[in-house]
Amino acid sequence: MDKKFKRTLVTTALPYANGPVHIGHLAGVYVPADIYTRYLRLKGEDVIMIGGSDEHGVPITIKAKAEGVTPQDIVDRYHKIIKESFEELGISFDIYSRTTSKTHAKMASDFFRKLYDKGEFVEKTSMQYYDEEANQFLADRYIVGTCPHCKNDHAYGDQCEACGTSLNATDLIDPRSAITGNRPVLKETKHWYLPLDKWEPALRKWILEEHKEWKPNVYGQCKSWLDLGLQPRAVSRDLDWGVPVPVEGAEGKVLYVWFDAPIGYISNTIELLPDTWETYWKSKDTRIINFIGKDNIVFHCIVFPAMLMAEGSYQLPENVPANEFLNLEGDKISTSRNWAVWLHEYLRDFPGKQDVLRYVLTANAPETKDNDFTWKDFQARNNNELVAILGNFVNRTIVLTHKYYKGVVPAAGELTDYDRETLKEFADVKANLEKYLDNFRFRDALKEAMNLARIGNKYLADTEPWKLAKTDMARVDTIMNLAMQITANLAIAFEPFLPFMSAKLRGLLGMEECDWNRLGSVDIIAAGATVKPAELLFEKIEDSVIEAQVKKLNDTKEANKLKNFKPEPVQENVAFDDFLKLDIRVGKVLECQKVPKADKLLQFKIDDGMGGRTIVSGIAKYYQPEDLVGKEVCFIANFAPRKLKGVESQGMILSAENADGSLVVIGPQGEVVPGAQVK
Ligand code: 2FM
Ligand code: ZN
Repeated sequence: MDKKFKRTLVTTALPYANGPVHIGHLAGVYVPADIYTRYLRLKGEDVIMIGGSDEHGVPITIKAKAEGVTPQDIVDRYHKIIKESFEELGISFDIYSRTTSKTHAKMASDFFRKLYDKGEFVEKTSMQYYDEEANQFLADRYIVGTCPHCKNDHAYGDQCEACGTSLNATDLIDPRSAITGNRPVLKETKHWYLPLDKWEPALRKWILEEHKEWKPNVYGQCKSWLDLGLQPRAVSRDLDWGVPVPVEGAEGKVLYVWFDAPIGYISNTIELLPDTWETYWKSKDTRIINFIGKDNIVFHCIVFPAMLMAEGSYQLPENVPANEFLNLEGDKISTSRNWAVWLHEYLRDFPGKQDVLRYVLTANAPETKDNDFTWKDFQARNNNELVAILGNFVNRTIVLTHKYYKGVVPAAGELTDYDRETLKEFADVKANLEKYLDNFRFRDALKEAMNLARIGNKYLADTEPWKLAKTDMARVDTIMNLAMQITANLAIAFEPFLPFMSAKLRGLLGMEECDWNRLGSVDIIAAGATVKPAELLFEKIEDSVIEAQVKKLNDTKEANKLKNFKPEPVQENVAFDDFLKLDIRVGKVLECQKVPKADKLLQFKIDDGMGGRTIVSGIAKYYQPEDLVGKEVCFIANFAPRKLKGVESQGMILSAENADGSLVVIGPQGEVVPGAQVK
């Protein structure tokens, strides 16, 4: 570690407890933070990893209202799911607590009060929407109205989700309260603001001058915020869910969720280490690292540091290695659209495959740009990398050791030039891994670890001990000893990334210790030690398993289309006489067939009560021809005939367009004779 630091405090963004966590959260924050922490622990460094649920904020109250339960019910439900699923994935928090804890309520309240007493806030009154029937001020999300830009009539007070514009509640046309539906009134309210502008010069110096090494995406975002100029930010809200503002006359007001949440890192450290927590937050020789997603950059690099500066006794983070976003099958992950792979569902669908997910999310981590998760890639990485490279090498080594030596590791004899070349290839693995891990380049680090398995595979393939076993057992001894040492190196190198595999492998090899400092050594397993019989570390994932996951996503997409269906606006009025100009009739389908060389068209022979007619219709995607024979349909009888793919169509069959764009043929509900008019 950098000589300046004696210990490391790793924090991970506190996920909102209004839903489970998904692969986007994992790839952005928790898997990289866990790799980093495990790596430091393996090196024997003093490190703690802090996590917890973010249990305040308006979305939680909205969800509670929608379900007719209390906000506490909501956070209790999701905190449990989140905590348990993290544990099962092996995210090795030293503590995973919550912002509804007593410790946090006190800590957040005291922190606010200290800033208040120091005169660090500016008090301001402003006009905000108030619902007179519900007797409460309305948070932005509780106000709906028409978007001034795109006229979507369901825009929220902070954003229109149809056109993506961020809004002020007072911008909305025809605002309504989401609680009662009434028109809210504007009423004066007082809030406390943190004057970020006051801290701007200090923030500029700290980030732009002293932390040029931060990831370009983080540095760049900070620079644009700073260049735009900082404004005071309200840190209180009129709401009944949160930490009460500890000031007289502030009844009905709570701390803004983004004020209390980062203080949660401190509260949770206090809960973990009631006596020594301050060492981790206030000593200059502690290195604080905040793992977050890119949507949290401004809060962690600007707002929270300004709070800490205003308080005066805390250290600022040394680095904030925020990741970009992970998409899913080409679309943005979305909780409200259920477009996600949820961790608790993955763990249920893929029992025992925690490391596969950890591997894929790291290999594909959105470290420098947004990335895409696809189930095909998940399968390919499992089958072609974990099974075919890592699992295969380890399995061959252990199987051969049992075949030739009954599991007792042979001693190495004299090394050949080729052996020495191989040793040289992985002599640098420790230094390379450290270089990448110290710089938060987890994808590259994983590649480096995988490279070690590749070296092992190549070594066995090139030396072919199974052939030499007939002629030169002394040489086989050396080869198998070396292969076993590479296997032991893999158990260490992969521990931060694939802890379940590493533990299993160490069990097989009888490795009691997992010491990072032994990486690169060739005497980790002593000659004469016995290894257990081989067990597969990874197994192939079949197409059917992947297809089931893809189908689940496709079903979600279809369900969303139906849910989001908005009928077209009704067109301008027309005179009844104009309607009568359309001659709509009922007909019975006598014959139906596909039109050759036209995948959309079906050709109908219709009994129209007037001797029959042919109609061509573009519904071949939605019906098999035989499905419609004998059915009664409605058609427009007085369209001028026209040719479609060489067939003359004498009318048009009427269909309704469903939410997903599919067409459904319209027919009468009772018995009607062919040729009857529709009026
Ligand atoms: O974006 C989020 O999910 C927030 N709940 C993150 C909070 S991070 C920290 F400040 F607690
Ligand atoms: Zn809009």
